[in-house]
Amino acid sequence: MDKGERVAGAEMTGTRELYDEWAATYDSVDNPTRDLEKRACESVLGGMSFGTIMELGGGTGKNTAWLAERAKRLISVDLSPEMQAIAKQKVQADNVEFRIGDITAQWDFAEPADLITCSLILEHVEDLHHVFREAAKFMKPGGRFYVCELHPFKQYAGSKARFETNRGLKVLQCFVHHLTDYTDSAMSNGFVMERMDERFDAADRDRIPRLVSFLFIRNM
Ligand SMILES: C[S@@+](CC[C@H](N)C(=O)[O-])C[C@H]1O[C@@H](n2cnc3c(N)ncnc32)[C@H](O)[C@@H]1O
Repeated sequence: MDKGERVAGAEMTGTRELYDEWAATYDSVDNPTRDLEKRACESVLGGMSFGTIMELGGGTGKNTAWLAERAKRLISVDLSPEMQAIAKQKVQADNVEFRIGDITAQWDFAEPADLITCSLILEHVEDLHHVFREAAKFMKPGGRFYVCELHPFKQYAGSKARFETNRGLKVLQCFVHHLTDYTDSAMSNGFVMERMDERFDAADRDRIPRLVSFLFIRNM
C-alpha cells in the first residue's frame, strides 16, 4: 500500500498505547522540549484572546489552563485517555471540555474554532495535508492555527519522542516534516503565515534549534 492509499488512522498503531504508558511520568521527568514549547506557546499567543479554542493533542494539560484563561471556551482533544485523565485532574475550569479523538481520522470531535493549537503532536502524524484540511474546515474566518513542533533540524539528527520505562527506552513512531511540508500544507488549505519562530536551548542561537513554531491565519 503506498502513501496515498493509507487508511486514515492506520499509522497510529502503538501511539495511543505508548502515550497511555508515558502519562504517569510525562510531567515529572526532565523534558526540555516540553518545557521550551510551553514558553513558545505563551510567547506567541500571549496578549491574544479567543472565542473557542480547540487544543489538539492536549496531553496532560501543560498548556490547557493557560489557554483556557484566554478563551470563552476550550475543547482539549487527545488520543490517549491516560494523558487526558491527568489533564482532567489538573484543569477543572468550567469553560474547558475534554474529548477523546484522533486527528488522523475524520474530525468528528471538532467544532468551529477561533484558534486551533498543535503542540508536539504532528511528529506522530504522517499526513499534514489531512490535518490542515480538517483545520480549515473547522476554522472560523480570521481564525488562527498555532503549530509548534520539534524542529526538522533536530529530526534530521535523529531526535524522536521517547521515554524511559523499567523495561528500557520506548521510542514512538515519528515522521520527519520539513519546514516546507508545514508551509505547503498551510498554503494549499487557505492559511497565510503570520509568524514563524525558532526556539533554541538556553536561547543559544549557535546551536541547532529545538523547536519551530508557526502562527497561520485563515483569511477566508
Ligand atoms: C508529546 S505529547 C504533547 C502534549 C502537550 N501538547 C504538550 O505539549 O505537553 C503528544 C500528545 O499528542 C497526542 N496524540 C498523538 N497522536 C495523536 C492523534 N493522532 N490524535 C490526537 N492526539 C494525538 C498524544 O496522546 C499526546 O498526548
